[in-house]
Amino acid sequence: MSKVLILTGAGLSAESGIRTFRDSNGLWEEHDVMEVCSVEGWLRDREKVLHFYDMRRKDSEHKDPNAAHFMIAEMGHKFGKEVSIITQNVDDLLEKAGCENVIHLHGKLRELRCEMCGHLFDIGYRSIKDIPECPSCKSQALRHHIVMFGEPAPFYQKLYNELTSTELLVVIGTSGEVLPVDQFASYTKYSILNNLEHSMAINHMIFTHTFYEKATTAAPKIKKLIEKYFETGKV
Ligand code: APR
Ligand code: ZN
Repeated sequence: MSKVLILTGAGLSAESGIRTFRDSNGLWEEHDVMEVCSVEGWLRDREKVLHFYDMRRKDSEHKDPNAAHFMIAEMGHKFGKEVSIITQNVDDLLEKAGCENVIHLHGKLRELRCEMCGHLFDIGYRSIKDIPECPSCKSQALRHHIVMFGEPAPFYQKLYNELTSTELLVVIGTSGEVLPVDQFASYTKYSILNNLEHSMAINHMIFTHTFYEKATTAAPKIKKLIEKYFETGKV
């Protein structure tokens, strides 16, 4: 169980060119979100949803990690198991930056899931159309491994478990619309919030430190605070 939990959202990948969900030019505006990110939309038009995730998967191939991803990877390498890395993002930029054992609460763009046997497998940046069958049971009932609105999110239990031992919570780039990050901060001794602007869903008074600026400029400051925590037990 780690002492420092780094919990991230779409804002972490914004400067790498992956749009967030709720900012001005967010993902929602391009698509009626409930058509492509909800169970109802999935049941109504399977092909449209699979195409939506195919496009995002293809787009993510040419995206590179930014300084904030690299800072998180550096903290993970330097402090090992004392740091856990959990994200709401489905892109692979934390892995591209060198992070290991990232917990993706909402699934992963690069993975498909077999609806017959539940087998999960990485298809890189290919289209689901290039994958004829499940490598395990040969079924053709394959889907994106992304948690949609209206579906259970089984990985949340790992987040709650980690929180029981977390002393320093670092939150980067999430509006708190889905995860009650300020509630999590109220359980931990110290906490850091980095967003571009205030979010109506987050009571930032709860956090020990707040940085309302781009993740790439906040990253060195957050790194110093994490190192200070490990040196002194305080931030
Ligand atoms: N640096 C730091 N923070 C940023 C940056 C940036 N460059 N750009 C945007 N942000 C912040 C915004 O201030 C906002 O608070 O990132 C946050 C993005 O919020 P959302 O778009 O709501 O994304 P997120 O919180 O990750 O959404 C959570 O909702 O739709 C579901 O499953 C989806 O995982 C997603 C979840
Ligand atoms: Zn299968």
